Amino acid sequence: MTAIAKILLLGSGELGREFVISAKRLGAHVIACDSYAGAPAMQVADEAEVFSMLDAAALGAAIEKHKPDFVVPEIEAIRTEVLKDYEDRGLNIVPSARATIMTMNRDRIREVAATELGLPTSKYLYAETLEAMHAAVAVVGIPCVVKPVMSSSGKGQSIVRAAEDIDPAWAYAVAGMRGDRQRVIVEAFIPFDYEITLLTIRTREGVLFCDPIGHRQERGDYQESWQPAAMSPAAIGAAQDMARAVVDNLGGYGLFGVEFFVVGDAVIFSELSPRPHDTGMVTLISQNLTEFDLHARAILGLPIPAMTQYGPSASAVILADREAKDFVVEGLDAALRTLTPGVDVDVRVFNKPTTRPYRRMGVALALARNGDTDAARAAARRAAAKVTITYRD
Ligand SMILES: Nc1ncnc2c1ncn2[C@@H]1O[C@H](COP(=O)(O)OP(=O)(O)O)[C@@H](O)[C@H]1O
Ligand SMILES: [Mg+2]
Repeated sequence: MTAIAKILLLGSGELGREFVISAKRLGAHVIACDSYAGAPAMQVADEAEVFSMLDAAALGAAIEKHKPDFVVPEIEAIRTEVLKDYEDRGLNIVPSARATIMTMNRDRIREVAATELGLPTSKYLYAETLEAMHAAVAVVGIPCVVKPVMSSSGKGQSIVRAAEDIDPAWAYAVAGMRGDRQRVIVEAFIPFDYEITLLTIRTREGVLFCDPIGHRQERGDYQESWQPAAMSPAAIGAAQDMARAVVDNLGGYGLFGVEFFVVGDAVIFSELSPRPHDTGMVTLISQNLTEFDLHARAILGLPIPAMTQYGPSASAVILADREAKDFVVEGLDAALRTLTPGVDVDVRVFNKPTTRPYRRMGVALALARNGDTDAARAAARRAAAKVTITYRD
């Protein structure tokens, strides 16, 4: 049998795992890659490769070995020059090599959004030394948010609320930094009413949007998300216009998670992922086509005739709190028992081989068929709290 497409997946976490399932359901053959064996997506893929995505030679060797039709990045930290090289030679990089290059570092996508497209963003400056950061904070103002230009899930991110926070914020950012450039972005803190992810799908037939997803973050990392987020039509329209402008600029086909802060009717662009978004895991229960199904269809050029929302839904994360290799995830039985009439609950366990503080080990999902997003959020949080990790080492 010949598969409809061969996909090389770069990064094999929980988002990659769901993408593999969606792609395989459509008949694709998937090779899952990550820097460690037994990663979530590898557990369900056809083949696996273990190497660092930042190792140019190893990345090139994996592409040569498997000769995929599509390269689908699941993470940001990739030797994107290699992807550009292969794209120039005709390989399909998802959504485009330009999108992976522009979003790998916060400063590049910020320049596209703020300078090239003129979208509203927080006031910001960059710094490459502690002295420069003091100067940047003086201009941007306090409070401000400091982040390494290359990092994800809140790593190295902190809020400067007073002058004495500047030195520790620099040290924390340097420690949490990935890649080869020591550089931080200093952003004015936006006292937003709420923040959203707008899942935006760029297809050959046009740009589509899912209902906005609200989310709550702690330490720069997502804790719970819900869909639909209550938003005025004016704010939704503004967010859609901005999302369309950014994805059209980045090019290619696939699903993007575009993040915005909302203050009243003012919508401020924050950042985006040119791939499924962690807060979008709520679509595993909220819609007929999940964000992973949508990504797979857009990539493979398959139609997306209708997106149906089943009802107000929510997700809540299940986190580890220490480092361990020998542990067991328990409490599924209690979590899966119906907690509220009319609310469906489900749980996904990621089967990561080790734990560390705050590592995401699973997610609880809830769909409030006749309720509201608050009912779904409460149910997802309760279900997540019933899943416990018992450490044995
Ligand atoms: N300028 C800001 N003002 C207020 N909150 C912010 C700001 N920047 C980031 N945050 C908070 O931190 C979270 C993570 O920041 P983000 O830039 O999205 O980094 P990551 O790439 O790690 O997701 C955001 O979702 C938001 O809750
Ligand atoms: Mg983010």
